[in-house]
Amino acid sequence: MPTPQSDFVLNNGTKIPSVIYGSYNAKGDDGVDAMVFALDKANYRGIDTALFYNNHESVAKALKRTKVPRDQIFLQTKIWPTQMRDPEKWLDVCIEELGTYIDCFMIHWPIVLKPEGDRVIDTEWDFIKTWKLMEKLPKEKCRSIGVCNFTKKQLQQLLDATDVVPVINQCEFHPELPQQKLVDFCQEHKILPQAYRPMAKGQIFNDTIKGIAEKHKCDPGQVCLSWNVIRGVDVMPKSATESRIISNRALISLDESDMEKIGLLGAKNYRSVSAVKPTGVDYFDEE
Ligand SMILES: NC(=O)c1ccc[n+]([C@@H]2O[C@H](COP(=O)([O-])OP(=O)(O)OC[C@H]3O[C@@H](n4cnc5c(N)ncnc54)[C@H](OP(=O)(O)O)[C@@H]3O)[C@@H](O)[C@H]2O)c1
Repeated sequence: MPTPQSDFVLNNGTKIPSVIYGSYNAKGDDGVDAMVFALDKANYRGIDTALFYNNHESVAKALKRTKVPRDQIFLQTKIWPTQMRDPEKWLDVCIEELGTYIDCFMIHWPIVLKPEGDRVIDTEWDFIKTWKLMEKLPKEKCRSIGVCNFTKKQLQQLLDATDVVPVINQCEFHPELPQQKLVDFCQEHKILPQAYRPMAKGQIFNDTIKGIAEKHKCDPGQVCLSWNVIRGVDVMPKSATESRIISNRALISLDESDMEKIGLLGAKNYRSVSAVKPTGVDYFDEE
């Protein structure tokens, strides 16, 4: 019976929990309470945030309030396309705001935008230049470096031109957007695929997912999350609701037949996050 693992091991030898708390919109007192609940009551041991989420202050408060020691929590954050020319400056901002070192410092999008103007491409800079600067970041500030929203082609360009292999590539991965070729490419190169929007905010809870959830007497979210982890993809569900924070952390074993049925849903190729809104560039259709 295919069973989800509790951790993955990154290419630098560090363990990362297979379920991380996605903190987008976790802000203010409610956000802090949700994150402390996730850590103290629901056994989460990782938080995903980003400079763009504008919630580092809340994450810092949660890290202070939780009973879980800092060294047991995997903390990842990201720089925005307008911040790509000076990753160390922005890493220092992250450390200042979060009040601690970063476990994985990430490129949010493989596009470079000028800080001024509305999504104006900076033609004199690129993600390879940023990565070369990130490779030199001191380990006491960030333990590892990773990327988000990279296609196979962009990963290959990065691998060809630089020395350090990203530990993670965080992308939209769920039953209706499996992106199996990208997952295979990442795994072949020892890059952990990590799923954002892993339940597509519940919009993919179709009859197949609901039927499997009924059979296993669990929540449809657990089916989506467990399917990803079973195929080797780390997941980052977000919830502000205590019962869902708990259920999303509790992965389940699935039958081979469940995996096959969920595999058929990939044909829908339903993508809920567009690259155009944040970057102005529509590049997701390339391999
Ligand atoms: N790198 C990137 O470009 C990128 C892009 C998008 C997201 N992310 C990261 O990925 C994380 C997760 O993605 P996401 O928040 O967009 O999507 P998601 O985790 O698929 O969905 C979150 C939404 O679904 C609801 N929900 C949570 N658990 C549920 C369940 N078991 N059943 C039904 N509904 C449920 C939540 O509502 P309640 O809060 O009311 O429970 C929330 O509105 C983000 O928080 C962020 O950290 C990264």
